[in-house]
Amino acid sequence: MPRALRHLVPLGLLAAPLLAGAQAPSSAAPKVIPAAAVTPADRWWEEGVVYQVYPRSFQDSDGNGVGDLRGITQRLDYLKTLGINAIWISPFFPSPMRDFGYDVADYTGVDSTFGTLADFDALAKAAHARGIRVILDFVANHSSDQHPWFKESRSSRTNPKRDWYIWRDPAPGGGPPNNWLSVFGGSGWTRDSTTGQYYFHQFLKEQPDLNWRNPELQKAMLAAMRFWLDRGADGFRLDAFPHFVEDSLFRDNPVNPNWRPGSGEYDSLQAVHTTHQPGTLDVLCQMRRVANSYQARDGRSRLLIGEVYASPQQLNVYYGKNGCGAQLPSNFGLLGAPWKSDVIWQRIDDYMRALPAGRWPNWVLGNHDNPRLATRLGPDAARAAAVLLLTLPGTPTIYYGDELGMRNVPIPPDRVQDPAEKQQPGLGLGRDPERTPMQWTGSAPNGGFTTGTPWLPVASDVDSVNVAREQRDSASTLALYERLLKLRKTEPALARGSFRLLPRQGDVVAFLREDGSRGRYLTLVNVGTTATTYAPAAGDRLTRGGKRRGTIVAGTRGRRGDRVTAADIALEPNEGVVIRLK
Ligand code: GLC
Repeated sequence: MPRALRHLVPLGLLAAPLLAGAQAPSSAAPKVIPAAAVTPADRWWEEGVVYQVYPRSFQDSDGNGVGDLRGITQRLDYLKTLGINAIWISPFFPSPMRDFGYDVADYTGVDSTFGTLADFDALAKAAHARGIRVILDFVANHSSDQHPWFKESRSSRTNPKRDWYIWRDPAPGGGPPNNWLSVFGGSGWTRDSTTGQYYFHQFLKEQPDLNWRNPELQKAMLAAMRFWLDRGADGFRLDAFPHFVEDSLFRDNPVNPNWRPGSGEYDSLQAVHTTHQPGTLDVLCQMRRVANSYQARDGRSRLLIGEVYASPQQLNVYYGKNGCGAQLPSNFGLLGAPWKSDVIWQRIDDYMRALPAGRWPNWVLGNHDNPRLATRLGPDAARAAAVLLLTLPGTPTIYYGDELGMRNVPIPPDRVQDPAEKQQPGLGLGRDPERTPMQWTGSAPNGGFTTGTPWLPVASDVDSVNVAREQRDSASTLALYERLLKLRKTEPALARGSFRLLPRQGDVVAFLREDGSRGRYLTLVNVGTTATTYAPAAGDRLTRGGKRRGTIVAGTRGRRGDRVTAADIALEPNEGVVIRLK
């Protein structure tokens, strides 16, 4: 497993389903997932593609070396040409930036580093004018310790906001109330000298956990969501939501017998009393009701994406009963997967089999918490992974720059910014390498990201990996993404067609997307590093008398337009192709 923020791919959850009665991985014939019913127009996100913008690193408009909202607005035409439908913007709210915006000091403002509320309004308007939806990052597990609510809460034991956070007396012999840990290492409890009690924080001590059991707090947070929905936000990505609620008995977390020293301390315990608690879904349901109330007014659905690293069975809980949950609990199954055909095949199969009827799948291959796709897999396999991402059924999320093949950038020790690295140096937990400036051009300083000094170094490969160059090169990674995104738009079979994962053949992962008479597509990805040939097994219904012909409509090796016989297709190492079958 690649290194990741330790709460993110923890505890072998992906390998060992948490829930009782979870389905065992199956070796039986893959299930055919039927074509989705025609979408009501408001369920735009089903056919949509989400693009994550890390605002500090996308585009700086004022030369201070940090990206901002105006910068995003300047680059909307690029995003429209790319062909995405929604941007999810990582937090831009007022923040002391201990965790770069994931420590919010005001849920209804814009940090001056990123601009103003008027800049947000202009961004939302300009995005909507281009048919791009705007998803905000709602950090509701914790606030900043500089939030006025926390300042009040810590001021006395009797302050009306005391219960908006989680306060406990020291353990009987002194010290933290229990053994709960912070994701970033060390105890999850910090003693506050004003009152002598400890407050709980699942992340940094500057990120105190909010108490979602308190009705006033609930009201205030839901009001903050309404504030942004009123200003035109189209939904939220819910940060770290499995952490929202903790065990009401404050029981110690059990020791993790599989923990290896050298990985983050957080993993030394199993977070069974601090994550995925009963009550989490109720909070999600309240949020969904808020979102739905906007849809009831104007017919446009507001999207909730949930950040949850868990087994497919656990993820599915968060679709909610009767749809009162997130529309898209993030599926990170392929994000942490070794690039091996048996693993990839099994993860796809497990996820699709477990998906509850009527729920919509989604796929994520990169984000601001994990090493870049092209670094994890290598440049060629990363291109093949794009073929998977954009032809599997459901909503894909693209992390900014992955469409160029951007790679992790080594960060010199004196330029480290990320608290994950600073708190536990040397374990490879830092996330700066995947957060470096977007590479717009090779012909301007700092890749066109800023005229000032960038907050993180620009990659040394910026001369070859950049938007301007790749837009001129039909064999570039960017051209491949654009092609695949266009296909999704024009071909109903790829957007909403049925899905059949074909039996794995050696290193080849293969599946079929079909929409009645409106098209039939075969995706083949050679996950291996040697050339191979794919020959559909008898019974796959891919061939007619061994002769079914097809045409490559997109691929990693520039074979577009090539005619192939679906009975016998040669694939180069790490090659991915999409074939339109006749
Ligand atoms: C989420 C974010 C991560 C952040 C953490 C604490 O996991 O993706 O970047 O550090 O929450 O808010």
